[in-house]
Amino acid sequence: MTKSNEVLIFDTTLRDGEQSPGATMTHDEKLEIAEMLDDMGVDIIEAGFPIASEGDFQAVSEIAKLAKSATICGLSRANYKDIDRCWEAVKHAKSPRIHTFIGTSPLHRAIPNLDMDEMAERIHDTVTHARNLCDNVQWSPMDATRTEWDYLCRVVEIAIKAGATTINIPDTVGYTAPVESADLIRNLIATVPGADDAIFATHCHNDLGMATANSLAAVEGGARQIECTINGLGERAGNTALEEVVMALKVRGDIMPYTTKIDTRKIMNISRRVATVSGFAVQFNKAIVGKNAFAHESGIHQDGMLKNRETFEVMKPEDVGLAGTSLPLGKHSGRAALRAKLNELGFDLADNQLNDVFVRFKDLADRKKEVFDDDLMALVTQNDAED
Ligand code: KIV
Ligand code: ZN
Repeated sequence: MTKSNEVLIFDTTLRDGEQSPGATMTHDEKLEIAEMLDDMGVDIIEAGFPIASEGDFQAVSEIAKLAKSATICGLSRANYKDIDRCWEAVKHAKSPRIHTFIGTSPLHRAIPNLDMDEMAERIHDTVTHARNLCDNVQWSPMDATRTEWDYLCRVVEIAIKAGATTINIPDTVGYTAPVESADLIRNLIATVPGADDAIFATHCHNDLGMATANSLAAVEGGARQIECTINGLGERAGNTALEEVVMALKVRGDIMPYTTKIDTRKIMNISRRVATVSGFAVQFNKAIVGKNAFAHESGIHQDGMLKNRETFEVMKPEDVGLAGTSLPLGKHSGRAALRAKLNELGFDLADNQLNDVFVRFKDLADRKKEVFDDDLMALVTQNDAED
């Protein structure tokens, strides 16, 4: 398969994201998020784990029915019962996908107590079974990054021969470093017979804070599907954040010449909605979607931003769906930002008046974390009264 430069975005907010303890969403909330994902251009939505509960089954089935353009995928373990249930849920989609997985590392092989040959046979049989139901089958060797190299090559080859169309390489415990992530995909593609018949995907967890870097490195190595979640929601430290990989590829196309179909202007809206329905607030300094991602408080930064926004911003807030940059006033702010804010509020002060207000503003800012519009108006009015 010739590798185009388009990277498919596989969103698993509704499956891996929802597996975060405490992030459970209701049926209606899942449908709403799925519609938003579909609308923003996500290629594949992993809508749930149909065998896990009746609720998950219903949600995946409904999402499959309503999706307009995204492929709808469900997760299943490596057994026929799971795969059949998954197919029952996703089969309603215009473009359905079955995703089946099994843990292949020594630690994970010990759990079902299968030896290497028995597991290889199980992979062959379950992928074949899934492929008999659905043309679009994804297979994942869970904990791939801690699986012995020879065995990983062997099972990936088996899965491709049995009909898997996407091979996902999960860094299940967020253990890999970027250089390894790129090499792993590159070497698999170069080594495994038939690798060209499949798309390779990367699925990274963020335990060491390297999920975004690892996903982008995997793309450099030849992966053409990134698995991710909105706000990086996911078990433990979460999954790769969709907004981070998508914006990194958009902003740094000069050194990473890959495209996605995501309408980035819809990022902020869905980020807020996922935060609300999952109950997982976004940290203030979170890349792309944090409250402070486009906010500048210090005088030097505010002055720079008022002269040229590129001084301290590498992307436009409008490109992620924000109305604009914000210049909150606090004790680090300077005269330029204060004047700009007062102008915005309809005050055009002479230099000496501004100086007076500025002194009182600093005094207030020392006592308050943020100075709001009402505070400023009070300061100006006080100034007028004293004049
Ligand atoms: O992290 C992981 O290994 C997974 C698999 C089920 C793909 O989420
Ligand atoms: Zn995962």
